[in-house]
Amino acid sequence: MLKRRLRSLAKRLEIRFAPGRRSRFLPGVPGRVHTNDLMLFDSSRESIENYLRAARSAVDIVAEALAEVGRSFDDVTSCLDFGCGHGRVLRLLQQKVAAQRITACDLDEEGVRFCAAEFGVRPMLSSWDIGRIPLTTYDLIWSGSVFTHLDAASCDHLLQRMGQSLLPGGLMVFSMHGEFSLANLEHLYGGEHAAEAATIRREVAEQGISFRHYAANWGDFAGTYGMTWHRKEYLQERAAALTDGALRLAFFRPQGWDHHHDVIAFEKVEVVA
Ligand SMILES: C[S@@+](CC[C@H](N)C(=O)[O-])C[C@H]1O[C@@H](n2cnc3c(N)ncnc32)[C@H](O)[C@@H]1O
Repeated sequence: MLKRRLRSLAKRLEIRFAPGRRSRFLPGVPGRVHTNDLMLFDSSRESIENYLRAARSAVDIVAEALAEVGRSFDDVTSCLDFGCGHGRVLRLLQQKVAAQRITACDLDEEGVRFCAAEFGVRPMLSSWDIGRIPLTTYDLIWSGSVFTHLDAASCDHLLQRMGQSLLPGGLMVFSMHGEFSLANLEHLYGGEHAAEAATIRREVAEQGISFRHYAANWGDFAGTYGMTWHRKEYLQERAAALTDGALRLAFFRPQGWDHHHDVIAFEKVEVVA
């Protein structure tokens, strides 16, 4: 018992005062990579290449979405990486947007503090309770592989909160599991959803969303986190309904992120009464 308490205290002290202690440089990767970065499978050359390819692909697709609304990274004044993890994408994002203009937000305090220490971005600790996330205002929000894990109510709440925190003309870009993921349920994700593939596809076709919570408990809001598939039109309808029409679909690219996740973007527009 005492040993466990001491270990947990040591971990908390390390996260706060030495967040980069368990990190190292890897060939070709800008900045150090934390040993707890779950997005890096292992330190083999192939895994490093996969890690970098996903990071580059994210930044490229955000640039494309910005271009679609006549913008570029150069005019971003305030950027949020929502669900930044340990900074896989953020390490390249901060080469495009000045670090002091980027907020790194995650539930994982170690990830947030590591990103702040390693890249000089602003840290924001998130909450399982979406209403309590201390969002401010942004003109670019990127969220990679977060909506892909939330149940319908959480997706709604997050869409609404992000819509509220976008500045006029701001863009939110996020990834979703769409047709490619649905068509490959038998092979992807270790085949975990193979048996239910037909049901999941039917739910997406009929309701626009399908959610399967993870078997293990995840955080305080167990049951709201798992695997989620969406239809683009569903998200488009929800985004408009939840913001009185202030979120306009601006960009959609099937398999736009690393040939896997679809990428969808909404622009905050002025609603004329
Ligand atoms: C699959 S990981 C992707 C990490 C990162 N975006 C990347 O591509 O490397 C999903 C991340 O979303 C974070 N996340 C989930 N729910 C969140 C919430 N309510 N607020 C902030 N981050 C959240 C998780 O902690 C995790 O780091």
